Amino acid sequence: MSGSSQIYRSSTTAPVNIAVIKYWGKRDTALNLPTNSSLSLTLSQKSLRAHTTASCSESFTSPDSLILNGEKEDIQSSKRTQACLKNLRSLREKLEAKDGSLPKLSKLTLRLVSANNFPTAAGLASSAAGFAALVRAIADLYELPQSPEELSIIARQGSGSACRSLMGGFVAWRAGTKEDGSDSLAEEVAPVSHWPEMRALVLVVSAEKKGVSSTAGMQTTVETSTLARARFSEIVPRRMKEIEKAIHEKDFETFARITMQDSNSFHAICLDSWPPIHYMNDVSRAAMNAVETANRKAGKLICAYTFDAGPNAVIYYLEEHTHQAAGVFKSILPRIPGWEGEFGEMIRPNEFGSLEQKSLMTLKAGVSRVICTGVGGGPEKIEEHLVDEKGIAVPHE
Ligand code: DP6
Repeated sequence: MSGSSQIYRSSTTAPVNIAVIKYWGKRDTALNLPTNSSLSLTLSQKSLRAHTTASCSESFTSPDSLILNGEKEDIQSSKRTQACLKNLRSLREKLEAKDGSLPKLSKLTLRLVSANNFPTAAGLASSAAGFAALVRAIADLYELPQSPEELSIIARQGSGSACRSLMGGFVAWRAGTKEDGSDSLAEEVAPVSHWPEMRALVLVVSAEKKGVSSTAGMQTTVETSTLARARFSEIVPRRMKEIEKAIHEKDFETFARITMQDSNSFHAICLDSWPPIHYMNDVSRAAMNAVETANRKAGKLICAYTFDAGPNAVIYYLEEHTHQAAGVFKSILPRIPGWEGEFGEMIRPNEFGSLEQKSLMTLKAGVSRVICTGVGGGPEKIEEHLVDEKGIAVPHE
């Protein structure tokens, strides 16, 4: 192939992560520097993943472009995407400066194509997986030697939570203290193999109206919540230590208690913001009720709920408690889609005990699908490209 028309390509998949210690608040909005550290579980890519191909060629006309789920995105006016591209290009430039034989990929136009394997309608934050995949795919295209930790600094600038999707298993995002953000990065706390029995059941709940975006909501909280200060300075630092210890010791009860407490603390500072921010609804509260009922019936904590910036519930449990934890939801919601998923078939319906009628009805009316998944690995390089050999985007399915 002639030099000028050569198409360089690299593809990756990246996972979704769901935090158990929440990131909510920025101390620097341009660099996405957080007010506190956070910790998440990376979820299996069988159920939820972003797939991205990064390509570049002299034959591509500028500007850089991104097609997401078949739609052209305006990346020129997205400061966050531009920050990621600028950082990655400058790392490539340094490589090219050191080794004159390398093709000057940093000078070429990028054509990026990305697709998620889950419906956007599921209302799951896809930006974390999306930015992690974008950064990983371009880093591979440019053959950058940087570690996942170093790349997490770049992905963080795309979307804060994206930095945690560059690794699998149990991942901490260290808030850092430096003004330039060079110490605000993700770190693996434990790999998937440490606690592979960890499962997650997502209850997809449709929101009546679109909630406040994370970025805007966080700013309102930082500026107005009186409770938030204690969360940032004392509560979260203490919980980070406790939950990391619980993960290392595979102490599910402590893990579950802190997970639920931290979700509630995050929603409490949202409610304490002005104007107040509400993400959970009656369906979310009915899910909390069902989790509490299952735990009461078991006489110990066998499952834990957590909620992000929307009404969906994510319920963590261990494989050994599949029947007592996830089975309750299968018996309440036997016919909704999703039970055929990765860990769904082994869930046997289980009677829901003393769950009140009102919560039962609310769950039945409000949950549209489930996603049966578990803890999973980090980004994976794959040979399935979304840009063909001629440099043309493969049509979206
Ligand atoms: C509630 O990472 O989406 O899910 O940095 O503004 O892009 P930006 O915010 P984003 O916020 C995620 C908030 C959260 C908690 C969490 O994932 O830790």
